[in-house]
Amino acid sequence: MKKQIQIAIDGPAAAGKSTVAKIIAEKLSYIYIDTGAMYRALTYKALQTDTNLEDAEKLLELLRKSVIDLRPGKAGQLVFINDQDVTNEIRTNEVTNVVSFVAKHAPVRQEMVKRQQLFAEKGGVVMDGRDIGTHVLPDAEVKIFLKASVEERAKRRHLENISKGFSSDIEKLKEEIILRDKMDSEREAAPLKKAEDAVELDTTSLSIMDVVDKIISIVKEREQAW
Ligand code: CDP
Ligand code: CDP
Repeated sequence: MKKQIQIAIDGPAAAGKSTVAKIIAEKLSYIYIDTGAMYRALTYKALQTDTNLEDAEKLLELLRKSVIDLRPGKAGQLVFINDQDVTNEIRTNEVTNVVSFVAKHAPVRQEMVKRQQLFAEKGGVVMDGRDIGTHVLPDAEVKIFLKASVEERAKRRHLENISKGFSSDIEKLKEEIILRDKMDSEREAAPLKKAEDAVELDTTSLSIMDVVDKIISIVKEREQAW
């Protein structure tokens, strides 16, 4: 039997992490873990319960009371918090615009990392986020850092919004992406950063399948070495 490895995919907002991670997991019959969805689920719960987003201890208390589950659904992964399906709720602007405030707290991150490491324990996992190669899975056999110009990333999100029938302003999206990347890269606790041993891929002019093929070939290359 082939070795079941860990694949870590990091990068800034809208670089294509979750789209390619899902396809790679499917191709390899691995599980996919969207760590951003976990921070989003906690943020949703914090907003619902009027928890102060600057209060790390209160957020940690809330997280400890919250079971966050990622379950396979017909149209992709479903996200549950204490058995409530919050798959759509966690993608609203209300959540997106404040999730980085929740994710900056070290105690919250420590608890999240513990849970993410448990999910990945048996290998055979593709995990995406901001600190996967640097903190969550430092020994991952394959580490990828995806990036793309901010213009391209705003355009991708804009097209996504339009295709879903949502109103969308590309300049506003660009500003929001720049702000979130800044917060994620400048925070003290496990900032967004390329792991030293990660392969960096600039996806600005690459299609989704170009990126998938490149990562699969890196996986194959590494497999030869084991
Ligand atoms: O998909 P998108 O790039 O919009 O974001 P996401 O992956 O859903 O992550 C949402 C937010 O969660 C990020 O902007 C980070 O603030 C936080 N996050 C994190 O700090 N660490 C991770 N491993 C994953 C997400
Ligand atoms: O997970 P992350 O925030 O990094 O990005 P995503 O949600 O996977 O991708 C953002 C959007 O860009 C999606 O609508 C993808 O279909 C699209 N995309 C693309 O057009 N070309 C790529 N090479 C990768 C993603």
